[in-house]
Amino acid sequence: MFARKGPRLNVSLVRAAKAHADTLASPLLRVVNLRKSYATPQGPQPVLRGVDLSLRAGETLALMGESGSGKSTLLHLVGALDHADGGQILLDGVDIAVLSENARASMRREKIGVVFQQFNLVASLTVAENLAFQARLAGRYDPDWQMRLTQRLGLEKLVARYPEQLSGGQQQRVAVGRALAVRPKLLLADEPTGNLDEMAGDAVMGLTLELVAETGCAFLMATHSARLAARLERRETLVAGALARA
Ligand SMILES: Nc1ncnc2c1ncn2[C@@H]1O[C@H](COP(=O)(O)OP(=O)(O)O)[C@@H](O)[C@H]1O
Ligand SMILES: [Mg+2]
Repeated sequence: MFARKGPRLNVSLVRAAKAHADTLASPLLRVVNLRKSYATPQGPQPVLRGVDLSLRAGETLALMGESGSGKSTLLHLVGALDHADGGQILLDGVDIAVLSENARASMRREKIGVVFQQFNLVASLTVAENLAFQARLAGRYDPDWQMRLTQRLGLEKLVARYPEQLSGGQQQRVAVGRALAVRPKLLLADEPTGNLDEMAGDAVMGLTLELVAETGCAFLMATHSARLAARLERRETLVAGALARA
């Protein structure tokens, strides 16, 4: 009996260890030689000239750089909201450029949460409806998780309100909840506290980092604030269209 059980246990242990090692070795997100130009009257204007970036599951990374350095452009490409001119973006080992539009859309809905500087809530929906919006679209609505997010983000008393009846900080907490409601593998945030005063911004940042740790998702945040960037595990800076370690 033990003779049969022993080897099986070992095999499954070895397998689990190998799977764990693979997860650690192969990053969740890999960006390779990414290039993007915008058309201008003076001809194509290169913004990203070969960006390389790697993010492991659960890792938090601040993307820094001066205004106009291409932070939003990079986040849009990683979020599959725009097309690159060259290079690769691999999410979970899948090159998003080779996916059909439909496959890209479902990958975006299921694996990626996005928080924008301008909150971008749906004005005609209540807080509760906004929170559930993306999760319902993705077929990943989970009422228990939504309730927990609502509580953790301090939104219980606001669920029936509309976005225009909320402060900026409250709106951004709803946007964070909406992005995390799908339990994404990757949370992207583009200057999420850029429209908030310092106190409200710090509160949103603190809650976001707590929930990122709780869900185990990776977090990539664009910011020009060294103070906020210091709260994440890693920092990289966009300079002249490529990344330099900060
Ligand atoms: N849709 C667009 N069309 C043309 N130029 C753009 C567009 N979006 C951004 N840019 C230009 O690309 C550069 C990088 O912009 P952006 O990615 O928004 O930088 P950041 O987020 O770091 O401020 C800027 O010079 C900006 O003017
Ligand atoms: Mg920007």
